Amino acid sequence: MGIVISPSILAADFANLERELDRIADADYAHIDVMDGHFVPNLTIGLPVVARLAQVSPLPLDVHLMIDDPDRWAPAYAEVGANLVTFHAEAASDPSQISRDIRRHGARVGLAVRPGTPLDPYLHLLPVFDLILVMTVEPGFGGQSFMPEMMHKVRQARAAISASGLDIWVQVDGGISRSTIEQAADAGANVFVAGSAVYAAEDAAAEIAALRQSVDRYPRAH
Ligand code: DX5
Ligand code: ZN
Repeated sequence: MGIVISPSILAADFANLERELDRIADADYAHIDVMDGHFVPNLTIGLPVVARLAQVSPLPLDVHLMIDDPDRWAPAYAEVGANLVTFHAEAASDPSQISRDIRRHGARVGLAVRPGTPLDPYLHLLPVFDLILVMTVEPGFGGQSFMPEMMHKVRQARAAISASGLDIWVQVDGGISRSTIEQAADAGANVFVAGSAVYAAEDAAAEIAALRQSVDRYPRAH
């Protein structure tokens, strides 16, 4: 398990997404926020755009679905080429079945929880997931403040994963920057989503390198 940096294109120029993906080519994944205007109040992009991004992206796609009814919609994102598809526990009827449907298309699968959602009811599902996403802001918008009070959930996820002996990643998303990334790594996260921190930087590659360097001593500890 290594450090994974996944910049969110939510903070990118939506009129030039191919060029904006090239700006983050030094990262490990490109984080794509899909919002449906129902599960969250904001609306972004959907399947046809993600399908094209998968064709032109220099990086594998980490698709974060903030949508209702992932049972119906999530597998199609794997089918069009997303490498990792993460859906929200709060919106899913049958998380295990969704996981099977996503994996059938060769993608990895993640389970996300909002800040107010406890992890306990989902820990028995760890074996069917490759990643747990602990939201560190209320999903819906970029540029919000990191919630340090979510670190107990990151620690809980990492402890449960370690106890299980499984190789599962722990992702944090929301308010990640040079000043917050270390506390998330210290709590056990290894996948870091950063939207505004990377895209507001003049040199996105340098910002990605700085984020990576801030946490590169951590994974050995877990
Ligand atoms: C929020 C999204 C995040 C967001 C992060 O709902 O899931 O991925 O883009 O943006 P920053 O890093 O600006 O908080
Ligand atoms: Zn996200």
